[in-house]
Amino acid sequence: MLGRINHVALAVPDIAAASRAYRETLGATVSAPQALPEHGVTVVFVELPNGKVELLEPLGEASPIAAFLAKSPDGGMHHICYEVADILAARDHLLTAGARVLGNGEPKIGAHGKPVLFLHPKDFFGTLIELEQV
Ligand code: CO
Repeated sequence: MLGRINHVALAVPDIAAASRAYRETLGATVSAPQALPEHGVTVVFVELPNGKVELLEPLGEASPIAAFLAKSPDGGMHHICYEVADILAARDHLLTAGARVLGNGEPKIGAHGKPVLFLHPKDFFGTLIELEQV
């Protein structure tokens, strides 16, 4: 069911400082910041030869990463995103297998304009998983 890793997302308290560190200290290609108010984050994409790392900074009051940063103020790995060919088939398979899909179970349009779902980290060894249909 799982395809390629699409991205790894890191929550950061200061996206400008994190972008500088990735661009200047680590020598990576880093996109301009993009505000995504409907997702409660500002994001930059670190483009690597074999994939992307996304840096996420909270945006607004109800940001889904605010609680994460309250626990880990320096930042840290927030989720990993795997590609799937058919997100509804993947969801139905997961629900049948007893895994929990976050929210109302309906895919939302993610940061890349594609349908995404998130899976409960307690079902997957402490890691929040995002599935993206590609
Ligand atoms: Co993501």
